Amino acid sequence: MYSRILATGAALPERRVTNDDLARELAQKGIETNDEWIRTRTGIAERRFADPEKGETTTSLALKAARQALDRAGVSAESIDLLIVATTTPDMVFPSTAARVQAELGAAGCAAFDVQAVCAGFIYALNAADAMLRAGPYRRAVVVGSEVMSRVIDFDDRSTCVLFGDGAGAVVLETSADPGILAARMYADGRQNEKVLGLTAHMDHGHLAGDPFVRMDGRQVFKLAVEGLVDSAREVAGLACVRTEDVALFVPHQANLRIMTMVAKKLGIPDERMVKTVAEHGNTSAASVPLALNAAVEAGMIQKGGLVLLQAVGAGMAWGSALVRW
Ligand code: ACO
Repeated sequence: MYSRILATGAALPERRVTNDDLARELAQKGIETNDEWIRTRTGIAERRFADPEKGETTTSLALKAARQALDRAGVSAESIDLLIVATTTPDMVFPSTAARVQAELGAAGCAAFDVQAVCAGFIYALNAADAMLRAGPYRRAVVVGSEVMSRVIDFDDRSTCVLFGDGAGAVVLETSADPGILAARMYADGRQNEKVLGLTAHMDHGHLAGDPFVRMDGRQVFKLAVEGLVDSAREVAGLACVRTEDVALFVPHQANLRIMTMVAKKLGIPDERMVKTVAEHGNTSAASVPLALNAAVEAGMIQKGGLVLLQAVGAGMAWGSALVRW
């Protein structure tokens, strides 16, 4: 028994912010950045920022992406029995984003929960859904990654605020006798904690305690990301008895083009087989992999029967890979 991806969906906020737009905004505060620095260090050209006044929230983006995936799969919301939302920017502490999306979708009654593994969240959620579908009794699942990172980035810190964007992506999964997800693995090393990458704020007796913005040791993240992604890709390839060189489409976490290129090279995957949406989306954390996967599906980049490698890494540190026979 396997689980298969039936369809993908995505949602992006309307507002597009280019590097030049951001540089102009920061310049008004006396902070210098420019398109050339951002492009060469990260590969990012623009990102989308949600406008809560237009109703663009983590829940609304997740809902839109899930609806599109369900429509394309040709299945009804009532028919799903599992809904997992990966997010690190929920609209509220509780209820979970998954519960709120479930209500709006019209899927009341199914299992619904959030996964918090930051940028690795979608791979964690996919791995969990795959295991639950194969074990039963669940038969059909929606897995979503949705983020409004613009709420938690410090626009006075040029080393982080240029990196992130908002959006959501979703997949519909179903049990299948034919191979779909061949192998998926997730990992974490909590010793690489909030000093490397974190957002330490929390509720404390009616107040917000701690720092409400993303903080990062960029160089350390870079090093750990490359190591974890390469190791986990080799692990899932070994489990599926294939070579990483045989991957037909590589869908990496879209954090930084330099990380993506370095990982692809180490895995022997040619550049033209790598999906790149980081230029348009920036780093959308848990939404980055399903958004990139959806873009690849829409562009006709995936052939039936092809091997697709999905992977992500984020704070925790947490990381993982999944290998799919499309
Ligand atoms: N514009 C202009 N200059 C900047 C900016 C900016 N936006 N940000 C930093 N700088 C400056 C620094 O102040 C520093 O100046 P100095 O030499 O005068 O002190 C200089 O640029 C170099 O800074 P570094 O931090 O050393 O730059 P580096 O080459 O390491 O690039 C970056 C920084 C892009 C963050 C890199 O470390 C990186 O990609 N790390 C991975 C982090 C990542 O991908 N995070 C995403 C979240 S986690 C995840 O999703 C996996």
